[in-house]
Amino acid sequence: MLLIRNNAGLKVFIAEMKKKGHRIGFVPTMGALHDGHLALVKQAADLCDVVVCSIFVNPTQFNDPADLEKYPRPIARDIELLHSVGCDLLYLPEVADVYPPDLDTTLRLKPGALANVMEGEFRPGHFEGVMQVVKRLLDLVGPDLLVMGQKDYQQVSVIRYMLKKLRLPVKLHVAETIREADGLARSSRNVRLTRKWRSIAPVIHKTLSETRQNLAKMPPKQLAEAGFNALSDAGLRPEYFRIVDGTTLLEIKQPGKHEVIVACTAAWAGDVRLIDNIILKP
Ligand code: PAF
Repeated sequence: MLLIRNNAGLKVFIAEMKKKGHRIGFVPTMGALHDGHLALVKQAADLCDVVVCSIFVNPTQFNDPADLEKYPRPIARDIELLHSVGCDLLYLPEVADVYPPDLDTTLRLKPGALANVMEGEFRPGHFEGVMQVVKRLLDLVGPDLLVMGQKDYQQVSVIRYMLKKLRLPVKLHVAETIREADGLARSSRNVRLTRKWRSIAPVIHKTLSETRQNLAKMPPKQLAEAGFNALSDAGLRPEYFRIVDGTTLLEIKQPGKHEVIVACTAAWAGDVRLIDNIILKP
């Protein structure tokens, strides 16, 4: 695996791969890699000739400076892991490479309604930052395929919207969420859970699964309230628990009228914020 830190080196590598007619798969990450990320890299490797992964803790998507500071950065371990799953190139830039002072990297596309709900309500400006960095990384890497995880359902929806609006010539592949044996979704934040919160956190997936079982039995509003209360009763501090249309991300009233329905939640386990979702339909 090659490790490239600067844009000039990345440009040479990408140009060579393109000259050879190789299809490039790209997995953007913020590091602190886990099996979920590794699954994305493996899927990119199955679908493409070359896999590029980036590790960049993007400051513009953190609305809370403490969260940015606490974000884990186990870079030596990440490099080993990426090497072990067949990543071809790791792009490991500094802030000045992604946002050079002499280049206007402001993205003038508003994520609109998709970004105003759920994560957008509790993390103002988050998706503007995500769109900005993903667009910038796509400009630098120029991949054929962008691989992202379903765990960040809303993020994927916003990026899909951006690719369409800006007519970017890249396909999006969404990979299923990888879970621990007890159902907890793999996340870079899990390492910060204390033993107590780690033992409580699986209630998130359990509650989402129960929500799926009960979709036909209760009106969505009541079901969402029950989900929220179940997380609170377990000791978590939920921010939201919503049952939404899988495309608009707006809350639904009549399940029969929607093709795709998703339950999404964010909850604090101590001082760690966890998000998860489950597709209720189809
Ligand atoms: O999901 C993430 O890790 C980040 O939001 C992403 C897509 C790498 C952009 O910084």
